[in-house]
Amino acid sequence: MASILQKVLQEYGNKDKCKIQDPTKVEAILQKLVNDGPSKLQVITDFDFTLSRFHKDGERCDSCHGILDHSPLMPDSFREKAKALYQKYYYIELDHKMTVEEKIPHMITWYRESHNLLIEAQVSKQKIQEMVISSRALLRDSAVNVLSNLNDHKVPVLIFSAGVGNILEEVLHREKAFFPNVEVISNYMLFNETGECTSFKEPLIHMFNKNETALDSPDYFQHLKHRHNALVLGDSIGDLDMGSGIHNPGALLRVGFLNDKIDERMDSFINNFDVVLVDDQSFDFVNVVSRLVC
Ligand code: C5P
Repeated sequence: MASILQKVLQEYGNKDKCKIQDPTKVEAILQKLVNDGPSKLQVITDFDFTLSRFHKDGERCDSCHGILDHSPLMPDSFREKAKALYQKYYYIELDHKMTVEEKIPHMITWYRESHNLLIEAQVSKQKIQEMVISSRALLRDSAVNVLSNLNDHKVPVLIFSAGVGNILEEVLHREKAFFPNVEVISNYMLFNETGECTSFKEPLIHMFNKNETALDSPDYFQHLKHRHNALVLGDSIGDLDMGSGIHNPGALLRVGFLNDKIDERMDSFINNFDVVLVDDQSFDFVNVVSRLVC
């Protein structure tokens, strides 16, 4: 009899893009996910370059920060400073020769400095929608179908992002994808009475402290304590920790989207994620799995 994994790969149809180090383990996870069904499932997904695309038609897409960093509605001086920060710190984020512990202080500096730039630029609440509409932030193909199907089956989805919550919510609204089953944990801009950003909600979430943030969000996970199974979806090693708040974890399928610096990061992704999708700009794999479970 064909295994569930074989069935998933056949329906997904993009076997070349899918790397699995331990097919036996993945088969066992899939079997439990399917046997337990939607009532035991929750989904935890990163936003930037996981739910959203990394590139389209040969051009890079925008992350939450990228929407602001590239917007003509922001002052030139802001865009230049934001670009300089990105050029310095993005390479540190992806450097496969540095440990996560070595990267963390740099990432905190990056976030603090870029939040300060946004506060200095007095980014306005009113302009966010306009910036999002004209941006290159796009959801992955079939991502809206997946969210809609999960909503139909009352499966909760947590979008766990080290981006900017106000911005990603606006992207979801634009795509009509902010379904009632979706909750967001992220960095939120706080505005004064005239609608200008004056600070960010604390504690800061960066790409490598999602474990602490998950444990700091007991209400969310307590509320879902009967849902032991999860799909955990990310594009960074730090995203592996997004499920650390789940009560008595059962079957967790950790899917990694490997978008950039593919050769350098392949080993670390394959050793850590159950399934690695290499430069796949769709949510098709997740769609197949979620339809089998629900
Ligand atoms: O892991 P997650 O996708 O939630 O992290 C947000 C992403 O936003 C990081 O991977 C980082 O590359 C990006 N970022 C950015 N500009 C900043 C801070 C983070 O593009 N100022």
